[in-house]
Amino acid sequence: MTKTLFNHYKNLLPITSKTPEVTLGEGFTPLVKSNNLSEKYDCEIFFKLEGCNPSASFKDRGMFMAVSKAIENKKNKIICASTGNTSASAAAYGARYNLETIVIIPSGKIALGKLLQAMAYGAKIISIKGNFDQALNAVREISDSLNLEIVNSINPFRLEGQMTGAFEIVDELGSNPDFQFMPVGNAGNISSYYKGYKLYKSKNNKLEFPRLIGIQAENSAPLVDKKIVTSPQTIASAIRIGNPASSSLALEAITQTKGEFLKVSDKQILEAQSLLAKKEGIFCEPASAASLAGFLKYAESNKDYKGKKIVFILTGNGLKDPEVAQKYLSSDIVKTTSKVEDISNAIISGKSKSFFSKFF
Ligand code: F0G
Repeated sequence: MTKTLFNHYKNLLPITSKTPEVTLGEGFTPLVKSNNLSEKYDCEIFFKLEGCNPSASFKDRGMFMAVSKAIENKKNKIICASTGNTSASAAAYGARYNLETIVIIPSGKIALGKLLQAMAYGAKIISIKGNFDQALNAVREISDSLNLEIVNSINPFRLEGQMTGAFEIVDELGSNPDFQFMPVGNAGNISSYYKGYKLYKSKNNKLEFPRLIGIQAENSAPLVDKKIVTSPQTIASAIRIGNPASSSLALEAITQTKGEFLKVSDKQILEAQSLLAKKEGIFCEPASAASLAGFLKYAESNKDYKGKKIVFILTGNGLKDPEVAQKYLSSDIVKTTSKVEDISNAIISGKSKSFFSKFF
């Protein structure tokens, strides 16, 4: 039998004999030990590569569960609002299980790769003049009358499925990490990790909570600034959210795990994205790089992470958002003729310009 999240963690998930197995091969993503950063910061860093999921983001962990339950409950249409990844994931599972998938996205605000995914999987795409928060409000209002199953993280089964991220980390490390840094948008994922660690802790009293550190983008930071942001802005479009649906559970997660919310600038996010690619060989999307950006900020004023086990949740693959990376990476290309001598000279003397010269 192929190992799936559905069968491997069945006893910890809301799965009954009536729940059909849904899978696209999600989960069991690599937990990669850092090669360069651990040494520099004198701690044990691990990257959870959630971009290795079938639709290239962590959303698939919750989607398999939400879609299993939608089918169990005889729904044949699913709907979500999305900054991109939820729509790609929903569209993939919808296509595979013959569900009509409707995605509501903020016009011009989702990364190209994610939009192409939703198109490729055949979702009905509705692009609104408005932001994610407005899209989610609309989804809440229309889903009942149109008999649509919401597969945003306000669907409790999404949060249940995403707990598997915490299970895998503990299973693989053989203990809990001491810290976990992760991006926060609608605050579903941090809530899921909290629920997942809590559930494992209740079964094994040797486990402790990792301190959950939730990272938001500077001008999209309602949980850090403790107020709703009506017009959130950030280059990390996945977390451009001003009124997170799971705020209260996320707050509980931070309080119970002695964690905190931190905010980072777009520049810090892009520097972290570039650092991860150039020093660890991991290309994640900007929102995911906020994890590292947050750690670098944390490390400026705290030293309690030294010697500790730290996990960064890298939530999505960098190829989803080529446009942002291209803006600062294109200057790295050394151009020359096809003459062997010129190519040879270019290798010896050609210098790539600084990462950010073009962008900032
Ligand atoms: N990282 C990525 C790559 C995301 O796509 C998201 C959310 C987050 C982090 C934040 O997770 O919302 O659970 O706090 N993306 C959603 C979407 C909102 O529509 O794809 P969260």
